Amino acid sequence: MSWKPGDRREGHDAMVRVDQAGEYGATRIYAGQLAVMGDRTPMARMINGMANQEERHRAFFDAMIARRGVRPTALQPFWNVAGFALGAVTAAIGPSAAMACTAAIETEIDLHYQRQLAELGSGDTELRDAVARFREEEIEHRDTAIASGAENAVAYPLLSGLIRMGCRAAIAVSKRI
Ligand SMILES: [Fe+2]
Ligand SMILES: [Fe+2]
Repeated sequence: MSWKPGDRREGHDAMVRVDQAGEYGATRIYAGQLAVMGDRTPMARMINGMANQEERHRAFFDAMIARRGVRPTALQPFWNVAGFALGAVTAAIGPSAAMACTAAIETEIDLHYQRQLAELGSGDTELRDAVARFREEEIEHRDTAIASGAENAVAYPLLSGLIRMGCRAAIAVSKRI
């Protein structure tokens, strides 16, 4: 059954809110990485390709938030700065750290979208189809990042663990705030 105006499902509102916040954060992370790396190297071009996909994900959820009248996260200004800083700092450490950041984030986003798909079941096909489609691309980003040397980053397990922890916290608060 697809969504129609008047459907007020608090759980689904929270899903749209956190997904919009996450996709917005993703665009800011890649913007931070590209600000440090420039746009000339092959890796920068690859990141730019992923950033364009995040831009489409974000635009979709922006539109859904407006159409459904979902309150967006109040933390947008924070994700703006925190996402950009995470991207810029990891890119400044080096290309492997930038890739480790992407691998860590996309690992958590894959799990997050998997949980949403399980929760949605056969309901809200509009949201479910988008999440399923975007999840495929997030998995590609994760695999690309690992193939591009994420695991060569200095202190990879620590870096990856910290970023994943931060990402989980960001997901938890963006559902509600
Ligand atoms: Fe995305
Ligand atoms: Fe992504």
